[in-house]
Amino acid sequence: MSDQSLSRSGVFSEGVDRRVEKFTQSVSFDCRLYAQDVAASLAHAKMLARAGLLTDEECRAICHHLEEIRREIEEGRFHFRPELEDVHMNIEHALIERLGDIGRKLHTARSRNDQVSTDLKLWVRDAIDRIDGRLVDLQKAFVARCQADVDVVVPGYTHLRPAQPVLAAHYWLAYCEKLERDRERLADCRKRVNQLSLGTAALAGTSLPIDRDFVAKELGFEGVSANSLDASNDRDFALEFVFVLSAIALHLSSWAEEWILWSSQEFGYLTLPEAFCTGSSIMPQKVNPDVLELTRGKSARVVGSLQSLLVLMKGLPLAYNRDMQEDKLPLFDASDTVESCLEVAAPVVAGTRLHREAIAARLEGGFLDATTLMEYMIRHGVPQRKAHRLVGALVRKAQQQEGRLADLSLDDFRAEWPAADKGVFEVLGAQKAVRAFTSFGSTGPQQVQQQVQRWRQKLGL
Ligand code: ARG
Repeated sequence: MSDQSLSRSGVFSEGVDRRVEKFTQSVSFDCRLYAQDVAASLAHAKMLARAGLLTDEECRAICHHLEEIRREIEEGRFHFRPELEDVHMNIEHALIERLGDIGRKLHTARSRNDQVSTDLKLWVRDAIDRIDGRLVDLQKAFVARCQADVDVVVPGYTHLRPAQPVLAAHYWLAYCEKLERDRERLADCRKRVNQLSLGTAALAGTSLPIDRDFVAKELGFEGVSANSLDASNDRDFALEFVFVLSAIALHLSSWAEEWILWSSQEFGYLTLPEAFCTGSSIMPQKVNPDVLELTRGKSARVVGSLQSLLVLMKGLPLAYNRDMQEDKLPLFDASDTVESCLEVAAPVVAGTRLHREAIAARLEGGFLDATTLMEYMIRHGVPQRKAHRLVGALVRKAQQQEGRLADLSLDDFRAEWPAADKGVFEVLGAQKAVRAFTSFGSTGPQQVQQQVQRWRQKLGL
């Protein structure tokens, strides 16, 4: 039996089995919450002093020793003991070792149930802010590329088949938009993360005269949870955060997949920065896109974490249940994984080179201008369904001649569409076709230029 157990009251006549200590401990992973735990305890102690539940002197001693303990942890001088179960009891136990009965007062009007929720919210709040910063870094890397690649037209794909010509900058900004929605989701999630749980105690609140608003203010929370049962049971904030992480991971995974393809010999559109590629131990010629492949692969872990959390919380009755201790592993892992993916994504985007000639050569095939030709006919009064059929026939004719639409003669056009004039050639060829786009949000150069400007302003570039 561990004689230091803080959670075994006089009701027990027997100590806990060693195997249970090992089975139930969480300190091996929740030790990451030490800074949040100390911060929350400092705020709690100050509040207890204001409420007359600690003397000023007791409060000062507690705060001093909590900060001392934090320093010891930071400097690697603190020994976490699994028999003390979690980070909360390790820190409190150390405090009691140093202060005796004064230390025993810190847990007044508090339970580990509201403590763990508060610590976790503080941790998630910091993680949100860090990840948000990394998303901005990645957006900046994409927007910076827009300037460099301003005149590059690339094939746009649907079903991974050539569809219509698109400006490279339009591609880069597409990712900025996705990441912006992720940022909005993070900001929205942050509001619900930023509600103080501390003071709900075990599940019902407390009869002691606490001041939750004061603690909220001390810890930078925007509000105070209004139902103690809900607050001690709620892990929606973790679920939401890991959902947003999953959305980010999916966006990164699609981008990674696209650039794996584009950097392949088969596409030859771009070369990834060598410092972000790896070699093969047996094939000396290989330069592999492992960073992108791992970005794609790691998204599976993040989505798996979301799944774990959803299943973990499913069907739990109010209020705290020990199952919830298991929330930390997927939460931390998802956050670490996305952060690490974002850390390498920005330099990959910045350091990748586009191969303009290889891309330009690809623009010649695939009839990327067919839809623009159809729209030209529509502008000249041909009903859409008819124009669609006519252009199809012209594509077929060009295929038979093993050429492009632009290689057909005016007579070829007139054979299908008697009203055709030389004007058709103005929209043929990918370079010309891309200039024909004018609708808001389209890939037309003017539209894209406006969007690039908007992004530069938004990101302060
Ligand atoms: N280690 C626990 C966790 O992480 C702390 C809360 C324990 N509360 C309890 N009533 N046993 O969830």
